[in-house]
Amino acid sequence: MVLQREVLITNGREQHDDSITMQQHLQHPIFKTLSTIADKSNTEAYVIGGFVRDLFLHRPSKDIDVVVVGSGIEYAEAVGRKLNTKVAVFKNFGTANIKYQDLEVEFVGARKESYRSDSRKPIVEDGTLEDDQLRRDFTINALAINLNAEHFGELLDPFNGLKDLENKLIRTPLDPEVTFSDDPLRMMRAIRFAAQLNFTIDEAALKAIKAQKKRISIVSKERITDEMNKIILSPVPSIGFKHLFDTGLLEIIFPQMAQLYGVEIVKGKGHKDNFYHTLEVLDNICANTDDLWLRWAAILHDIAKPATKRFEEGHGWTFHGHEDRGARMVPKIFAQLKLPLNEKMKFVQKLVQLHLRPIVLAQETVTDSAVRRLLFDAGEEIESLMMLCNADVTTKNEYKKTKYRRNFELVKIKLKDVEERDQIRNWQPPITGNDIMVTFDLPAGKEVGLIKNAIREAILEGEIKNDYEEAYVFMLNQAKQMGLNPVNK
Ligand code: CTP
Repeated sequence: MVLQREVLITNGREQHDDSITMQQHLQHPIFKTLSTIADKSNTEAYVIGGFVRDLFLHRPSKDIDVVVVGSGIEYAEAVGRKLNTKVAVFKNFGTANIKYQDLEVEFVGARKESYRSDSRKPIVEDGTLEDDQLRRDFTINALAINLNAEHFGELLDPFNGLKDLENKLIRTPLDPEVTFSDDPLRMMRAIRFAAQLNFTIDEAALKAIKAQKKRISIVSKERITDEMNKIILSPVPSIGFKHLFDTGLLEIIFPQMAQLYGVEIVKGKGHKDNFYHTLEVLDNICANTDDLWLRWAAILHDIAKPATKRFEEGHGWTFHGHEDRGARMVPKIFAQLKLPLNEKMKFVQKLVQLHLRPIVLAQETVTDSAVRRLLFDAGEEIESLMMLCNADVTTKNEYKKTKYRRNFELVKIKLKDVEERDQIRNWQPPITGNDIMVTFDLPAGKEVGLIKNAIREAILEGEIKNDYEEAYVFMLNQAKQMGLNPVNK
């Protein structure tokens, strides 16, 4: 990444030239208002944190954090009066918030934290801008821009955050042991930023994460999962997951995934490392979709492999039934990670359950009935399932890879064909359970189920067409074999 030269100059003495450029960046009228109020109330005010970082990264941001030397709440109230906007005040935290147009502006007073030798609990008191910058998580998040007219647009970068942005480095302003101990979620944040931005994590920070990993358990599951989802949504999530694994955090926050790691060898035969395979599948799918839940399906598709692993004499390693077992694990994992237990979970579960089906089809001859069954079972999820299966082809054997991919294309063509002909997706059988009950004057029960099933099977196997007439005749025959006759109305 090459940062603009004018901006780099800010680090040196030529602040004046640079402030012109920064002023151009702060063109939104809100900054003028913030500046006017700061001067009127004789308050030092700065834009700080993610907004400034993203300015340099050319990632437009709608969240503006403002820090003032003094009371953030009083300043926010003055800004609110000027803009004629409601101010939400959080007295306990000493913060206030304004929503203005599409922006969200958060105000806080600069703070300083000091520690007594007999307690880990910090004393929080009013501080200078630099005190405040020092207690932030990373140097790239501690950049501040002056809002007061006299120095409007000047960058304050006491910890060389700009240089770290240029060198793509995640580094803490303080000793990382202190920064992470203050808020252990920052260990996840370091890894999340590394994945989102493709940055390196400073060695000392990585060492501190390894040393303090256990403290992650004092952070709420929701906040941890929030960061994990941001890692999953980043362009190459494997960057983040490798860090999570190497630092030992993954074992604590998501042990089932960490257990995918490793290769066992029996009688000279090994199997693939399912952790790295899963990461490859995840990265593969990310090239084609931004959907968080499809990405989760990639993470979980082989989650039951460790639990189903067997070495079979004369055959080698097997993972029989890992798709069923994996699907059964999904609700437990979602509950454990505080992910939503709704239709998103069901979607992931369905994909885990069905993930082998298209691969099997692609290896064998693709019959109409197999395709019809796949369409019936996958329904609306068929495209997502095909995408997952495509991503699952990670073999390094080019011959196999080409063969699978080619067969996949065949499966796709057949799917389209069968779908057009038989409309199996979203399919409701032409004869309902109620139709069967009325025709034979039956109560709800086993016999109705048997007939219904037989009709569905006959359609899926292609024995009869997917229409009412053929299904009706089939139903009469089926019922006759069971000793049932239609009642005359
Ligand atoms: N911050 C911190 N420690 C945390 C969380 C936040 O020091 N655990 C500081 C950082 O200076 C950060 C700012 O608060 O830049 C705002 O935090 P937040 O809005 O959570 O994150 P952003 O850095 O803005 O990034 P994103 O919006 O991607 O979460």
